[in-house]
Amino acid sequence: MKAKYLKVDNNFDFCSLKNIGSEIKNGKLVVFPTETVYGIGTNGLEATFCSKIYEAKGRNPNNPLILHISSLDMLKDISNNISTLERKLIDRFFPGPFTIILNKSDIVPNMVTANLDTVAVRMPKNLIAKKLIDYAGVPIAAPSANVSGKPSGTNIEDIITELGDKVDYIIDDGFCDIGLESTVVRVINDVCIILRPGKITKEDLLLVTNNVELDKHVFEKCVKNEKVLSPGMKYKHYAPNTKCMLVYSSNTNNMINKINEIIANTPNSLVISTSENKHFYDCKNILDIGSRYDLNEVSKNMFSILRKVDAFKVDLVIIEGVPKTGLGLAIMNRLLRTCEYNYVEC
Ligand code: TXA
Ligand code: MG
Repeated sequence: MKAKYLKVDNNFDFCSLKNIGSEIKNGKLVVFPTETVYGIGTNGLEATFCSKIYEAKGRNPNNPLILHISSLDMLKDISNNISTLERKLIDRFFPGPFTIILNKSDIVPNMVTANLDTVAVRMPKNLIAKKLIDYAGVPIAAPSANVSGKPSGTNIEDIITELGDKVDYIIDDGFCDIGLESTVVRVINDVCIILRPGKITKEDLLLVTNNVELDKHVFEKCVKNEKVLSPGMKYKHYAPNTKCMLVYSSNTNNMINKINEIIANTPNSLVISTSENKHFYDCKNILDIGSRYDLNEVSKNMFSILRKVDAFKVDLVIIEGVPKTGLGLAIMNRLLRTCEYNYVEC
């Protein structure tokens, strides 16, 4: 591996982080932890440095990046004309697993925003992320740490395999707490539109405003050349190489029966099951994603489980769904895309 590796532990030396902060400012690529997923970042105010992120991930240049900030002073520099509702959302959810799309200022390069006149901004809560941005002294542009199209990186072994030769530093802070990327919202005409659901749920947003809507592409596939509010909705994401299918019923017995029916038709399959149901499947390949009654556990495990499936060399991966409420909405959004909308509700 080309990258220099640093482990965050009780003896962690913040001087080395300070050094990486200045390296980032000078254009080095760094994998760093956040509470959602790992990011792959560099100085977000320099177009040529940011172009290296697209190259390392194989990311489509039309898919813009999030700028990560550590203070409201940085927010002032990169955004314009923040509305009252946007301000309320920022006050309530920064720092945390929350990204807001704002009007961009001139100092934000078009390379970051893919030529849009808006910029995505997030203030992570993870201490290492916060300190790294402080030390860099500039916003850090960072998408999730994964090759484009693959599940986001939530543990360092997966990331080293994929990106270890393409970045300059890797900072290992263990498993990410949340495991799912941030909630992305945009305010239009005083309505808070959820572009990507996450740990900050619709219910959380309703505590700030009564006007919250879910963009239709959260659950609907984009048709070719359709105009979307967030370019990321258009691209394949979270998908292993093996074909996947998502199955859900509000009646658990129905769901189990349906999955067993599918296994009977495709014997060389694998089931990603919740802990409570894994003994009910007539299948030798089972991966446990966590308890149905603890969606935090499911979201934390999800991407690392999805990265394991190709090694099984099966014909089909069948994934149990969860109710689309609270954090379940975000989990189902990611799983639908994992399955490329191959979904059965029974
Ligand atoms: O939790 C997260 O958000 C992680 C960590 C590293 O912060 N980052 C992350 O970045 O998930 P990424 O690039 O994988 O996803 C950012 C999403 C993409 O779908 C992108 O299209 C959308 O945000 N986005 C970025 N800028 C936008 C803009 N100006 N307008 C609309 N959508 C935007
Ligand atoms: Mg991503």
